[in-house]
Amino acid sequence: MNIATTVEQAKQTVRQWKAEGLTVGLVPTMGYLHEGHESLIKRAVAECDRVMVSVFLNPIQFAPNEDLATYPRDFAADTVLIENAGADLVFHPEPSELYAPDACTFVNVEEITSELCGKTRPTHFRGVCTVVSKLMNISQADRAYFGQKDAQQLAVVRRMVRDLNMNVEVVGCPIVREEDGLAKSSRNTYLSPAEREAALVLSRAVREGHHLMEEGERDAKTILGAMRAIIEAEPLARIDYVEMVSWDGIKPVDVADSSVLVAMAVYIGKTRLIDNFIFEM
Ligand code: PAJ
Repeated sequence: MNIATTVEQAKQTVRQWKAEGLTVGLVPTMGYLHEGHESLIKRAVAECDRVMVSVFLNPIQFAPNEDLATYPRDFAADTVLIENAGADLVFHPEPSELYAPDACTFVNVEEITSELCGKTRPTHFRGVCTVVSKLMNISQADRAYFGQKDAQQLAVVRRMVRDLNMNVEVVGCPIVREEDGLAKSSRNTYLSPAEREAALVLSRAVREGHHLMEEGERDAKTILGAMRAIIEAEPLARIDYVEMVSWDGIKPVDVADSSVLVAMAVYIGKTRLIDNFIFEM
């Protein structure tokens, strides 16, 4: 497995692959990899001839008050996981390699970034879309893999690719969970044992919401109310949002009459966790 730290090194490897007529898969990550990331890499390896995994803690998608400085890192462990999952290239640049001091071009997806995480993190998706565009250009990927864990991110990247006519297929992958239900996340390492226990309210609320919809309930107030009640019963939990939006447009809905995303962000102590389910109709 190759490790590229410069854009030129990565591009050179990709040029060789493309010259041989091979298909390329891209898995963008911020590192501190777990089984959620691993599932994306394995899927890419199964579906593409060559796979590039990027490990890049993208500073421009963090607001000044967020956790960029404390975000966990372990590049040595990441490379072991990536190699064992069968990828061919790790792209691990320094921020200065990707962002020139006078860089002034950003990719801004409007409308579907105004709800959910876009509300509390107004500059976040601009940072995500800018770096993902750069990674797609560098990797010349035929397919790029994203987790449904970050469902709005998946929707936003899909829309960007469609709107900008990018030559890449965006592949969404299911949420990987711990045995007790908690969605796997690099940020779970922030949780104390008591908080780790309290964090189970997210997946319990997701299960309850999904159950109600399976039983035929379609009223957003009823579904979200039942979910909020589960979270509010936990003293360590503080709701950022629990919302139902259309899956295609990420706009609030009162009654689910086509596919919806039911998503939440909840603070457990100081740690902000997200979880969701998509109900297809
Ligand atoms: P990161 O949080 O490292 O996640 C990288 C990819 O792994 C994302 O597509 C995310 O949805 C997926 N992922 C994380 N946890 C998962 C889980 N439990 N199950 C399934 N997939 C999971 O998302 C980012 O990085 C960044 O915003 C990035 C796209 C790399 C741009 O900087």
